[in-house]
Amino acid sequence: MTKENYHFTYYDEFKKKHHTDFKTNEYHNLMELLFDKYLEEWGDCKGRAWCGTCHIQIIEGEISEKIDTDEKNTLSKIEGVTPKSRLACQIPLNSELNGIVFKIMETS
Ligand code: FES
Repeated sequence: MTKENYHFTYYDEFKKKHHTDFKTNEYHNLMELLFDKYLEEWGDCKGRAWCGTCHIQIIEGEISEKIDTDEKNTLSKIEGVTPKSRLACQIPLNSELNGIVFKIMETS
């Protein structure tokens, strides 16, 4: 099976725009990719949907991966959550992320 290269765009907490290439399933989830390559200060719970440090908001595109109970509970406890909010650790690195645009939300 060949793995194609995809890309997405995100804005960091300083509103700086970044383009990132990725391969599907290169990491377990979106949080792990960003943690490994760009952002060191998030992912405190290592992807268990408990800490909320990997809060993102989708600007363009859709993610069909359902929000499970743990993610819903954690999102309900953090500030600035909107219907476009997700936890990056709960989003698989698949082709659906190709072309998506999102922003990293600051955690307090
Ligand atoms: S890494 Fe903790 S909620 Fe995503």
